[in-house]
Amino acid sequence: MDKKTAGLSDAFKRNTAPKSFTKNPIKGTKFTIAISSAKGGVGKSTFAMNFALALKIIGLKVGILDADIYGPSLPKMMAINEKPKSEDGKSMTPITQYGIQCISIGFLVDKDTPMIWRGPMVTSAIKTFTQKVLWNNLDFIIVDMPPGTGDTQLTFAQEIKVDGAIIVSTPQEIALLDVKRGINMFNKLKVPILGLVDNMSFFETDEGKKYNIFGEDGVEKVAKDYKKKFLGKIPINIDLRVAADSGKPLVEKNPDHKISKIFKEMATKVKESFL
Ligand SMILES: Nc1ncnc2c1ncn2[C@@H]1O[C@H](COP(=O)(O)OP(=O)(O)OP(=O)(O)O)[C@@H](O)[C@H]1O
Ligand SMILES: [Mg+2]
Repeated sequence: MDKKTAGLSDAFKRNTAPKSFTKNPIKGTKFTIAISSAKGGVGKSTFAMNFALALKIIGLKVGILDADIYGPSLPKMMAINEKPKSEDGKSMTPITQYGIQCISIGFLVDKDTPMIWRGPMVTSAIKTFTQKVLWNNLDFIIVDMPPGTGDTQLTFAQEIKVDGAIIVSTPQEIALLDVKRGINMFNKLKVPILGLVDNMSFFETDEGKKYNIFGEDGVEKVAKDYKKKFLGKIPINIDLRVAADSGKPLVEKNPDHKISKIFKEMATKVKESFL
């Protein structure tokens, strides 16, 4: 008698095997950079907004594409309440705020509307944002990714030319597991990893005492183990959080703040790998 074991059928494996796709670059930008983390709530959106503004400060033309369809953060973090205009009913003009061209699903739906969408609708929204938005003469588009390795990541990986990814993480063990998954995903998808960022790295009191709340040097160690660049540490900082909630990210509000300086250093490092 045949022994049956649980497993995936050959047909299933065939259907889900990686296929080759033609990847289209986003028109209107020289480079596209994804800000990613497999785990949620580690500060991707905060990083994306401040990093984009830091690139602007060092002289580049920048756009932000909010790819988080289920939980868009851009409208709140950049204080945008307008709807994008369309001249021809097909394409959309991004909304410029603080000198950054922005697009988000949050511009198109009411802020309290839950996006109860299946995968194909998410894919279609991402395609609209990458193909139908009139991005104008940019050096970089910064893509604020949703957490995880789902439909959005797959759409970007298969159909859109992404020139690099930055992985943001907090330093505790449980988040690092996800960083490794994230690194492996980008390796598989052949997207170069520009570097890893250690966010909420530590907390420093006014007296200069440091607390490593989530552990120490975890992200840097993973970067070393996987031979990836380590872009630096961003401490837990109340000004960064307050600025994000107020709709004017810290780098824009106070470019000389010590945290803003960290963002500008990281922006310079990344710029140098492209331009
Ligand atoms: N270094 C930091 N210091 C203090 N607060 C921070 C820091 N980084 C992020 N935050 C705060 O933590 C919260 C979560 O950050 P954010 O929304 O950027 O995370 P995310 O990874 O984009 O989340 P999601 O996975 O839901 O998209 C926000 O309130 C943000 O202001
Ligand atoms: Mg986010």
